[in-house]
Amino acid sequence: MNESGSKPWAGRFNEPTNAFVEAFTASVGFDRRMYKQDIAGSIAHATMLAKVGVLTTEECKLIVDGLKAIELDIQNDQFNWSVALEDVHMNIEARLTDRIGVVGKKLHTGRSRNDQVATDIRLYLRDEIDLIAAELQRLQTALLDLAAAHAETILPGFTHLQTAQPITFGHHLLAWFEMLQRDRERLTDCRKRVNVMPLGAAALAGTTYPIDRSETASLLGFAGIAENSLDAVSDRDFAIEFTSVAALMLMHMSRFSEELILWSASQFGFIELGEGFCTGSSIMPQKKNPDVPELIRGKTGRIFGHLMGLLTLMKSQPLAYNKDNQEDKEPLFDTVDNLKGCLRVFADMVPAIQVNKERMYAAAKQGFSTATDLADYLVRKGVAFRDAHEIVGQSVRYGIANKKDLSEMSLDELQQFSNVIDTDVFKVLSLEGSVAARNHLGGTAPQQVKAAITRARDRLKL
Ligand code: ARG
Repeated sequence: MNESGSKPWAGRFNEPTNAFVEAFTASVGFDRRMYKQDIAGSIAHATMLAKVGVLTTEECKLIVDGLKAIELDIQNDQFNWSVALEDVHMNIEARLTDRIGVVGKKLHTGRSRNDQVATDIRLYLRDEIDLIAAELQRLQTALLDLAAAHAETILPGFTHLQTAQPITFGHHLLAWFEMLQRDRERLTDCRKRVNVMPLGAAALAGTTYPIDRSETASLLGFAGIAENSLDAVSDRDFAIEFTSVAALMLMHMSRFSEELILWSASQFGFIELGEGFCTGSSIMPQKKNPDVPELIRGKTGRIFGHLMGLLTLMKSQPLAYNKDNQEDKEPLFDTVDNLKGCLRVFADMVPAIQVNKERMYAAAKQGFSTATDLADYLVRKGVAFRDAHEIVGQSVRYGIANKKDLSEMSLDELQQFSNVIDTDVFKVLSLEGSVAARNHLGGTAPQQVKAAITRARDRLKL
């Protein structure tokens, strides 16, 4: 009865499934990517059933060997996936029975596809989270290496995208590092809730067999067991949570991307992206376009979309499992694939960034970036901050009219605005003096950047 092509649940039906409905309801086209997890889950389930005496040792061995052979067939592209068999679970189960005979039909004892699919997705996502965390660390390391090379490189820091104060490039890169560090913490935290086993919940209420869920959980490396069978089969919070972590990561990467795009524009000229990460134009021969960061910026939109899609998928669903849940996989898989791709290309792209220190330095000299330093200097000489602000404002106005940066004015020129100004002002007005003066934890001084990199390398190991 259960040869490939006939449905394991066909018993109560008189009519065949409408041909289009068969294709419409099938998920095998995309859930087959979880075949390894599905087989691992089945092997653990059968092993547990044998331990509690529901299967004999011989039956278990036949099932386990059969499943391992099927895994090899799938790996070698020797598996004929059938849409009529709906999903990865029924495809593998039907093939098992084809292979080992009636014993194969015992595998599904005390289990449902509802707890099976929830288990498979969690196993799949747990594996992917570990790969993603490794890529994230690789990107963070690349940022630290670049930051170390540029602890003393000066560029303008911006607020409102207007020149604000000089900063060191290493410090700027460390800001990116911090964003990713929080992302990694969130990922690690999310993994804890992914790593909980639904298996044993069966369809929704549990099973009448004397199952040992701790045994299955330990075979599959789950740290916890879902406490409530209804929640176990219907919960997809973990997928939403993962996608929200991914959305934050993409949001961060879109910000880095935006800065790379701006900085590599000739109007800024702060950096050059490696040629391997740019493309040309089919009409404009001079072009070298920052396609990679642009595409990452663009992909952010689709990941945000997946987050909203998954939230909406779960909204108002009554307990317990509903077929709606089959819609969780494509957005989740697409999120995983694109997140991994973005991290990978970013980690490869960062070491290939060429930094144009001269352009950065020249830009920092413009826009009166040391105006705050002059105000702080006046305060140290006893002027009230508001008065100092006014005095510096007048000097800036003079600078604009005479096309001179504050550091380019003579002592006489500066003294027009305040007689407390003395020759010690020139160190304060230099870019190097300005960054070096912000010498406290979290500040931009090269000394602080170097110390922060050392701490960051330790934090990266956690
Ligand atoms: N393909 C289904 C899914 O992805 C598997 C679970 C089906 N369960 C059911 N009762 N129809 O959700």
